[in-house]
Amino acid sequence: MFITLEGPEGSGKTSAMKLVVERLKKDGYEIVQTREPGGTPIAEQIRNVILDINNTALDPRAEALLYAASRRQHLIEKVWPAINEGKIVICDRFIDSSLAYQGGARHLGIEQILSINMFATENTWPDLTLLFDLKPEIGLQRIACNNQREVNRLDLEKLEFHHQVRNTFLELAKRYPKRFVIIDASLSIDDVANAAYKAIWDKLHAQR
Ligand code: TYD
Repeated sequence: MFITLEGPEGSGKTSAMKLVVERLKKDGYEIVQTREPGGTPIAEQIRNVILDINNTALDPRAEALLYAASRRQHLIEKVWPAINEGKIVICDRFIDSSLAYQGGARHLGIEQILSINMFATENTWPDLTLLFDLKPEIGLQRIACNNQREVNRLDLEKLEFHHQVRNTFLELAKRYPKRFVIIDASLSIDDVANAAYKAIWDKLHAQR
């Protein structure tokens, strides 16, 4: 089972998922938790290039290709081996982030980004994608208040960019209704975690 977590900056997906993963482990599931861009040493090096706030000259297509390169390396070294061992892989961000950020907000086009990603992933799709949906105004306010979180190059984009990210995520949820579950990330962390746990539980039991 391959589960991905998507949503705007400050949606709280990472904190909510910590609670969910504890519950799933108690239920006896073997979970591998990982993130993109990054997740392995080579992919983390690519992440540093992409997110460095000094790399203001990074071209949008180069950015999209770097995300895809990092994704492939991560699949090869971590995700595919874990799935083949029967583990549940939960990945913070995956292809839908590229479709929303590079395809939608950077205007490179969903189909173009889809095509480089199909090359990179050899058509790997998540079984379940949890979309932690939140108005960008709230998300950006949350990250501004969280001084433990390092600001990255994408955080510095204008509000309009983050609206486009959100709208594209919502379009993707309509395009792929079987794999997407939308979670209202404006709720409390416990409510968000309960909704995420339920979505995963439903999927695990539907597959039996
Ligand atoms: P990160 O600090 O991991 O963000 P978050 O905690 O919000 O998940 O930084 C990842 C950033 O990269 C985030 O702004 C989203 C962006 N991103 C893309 O633009 N395209 C992608 O394909 C991926 C995976 C992430």
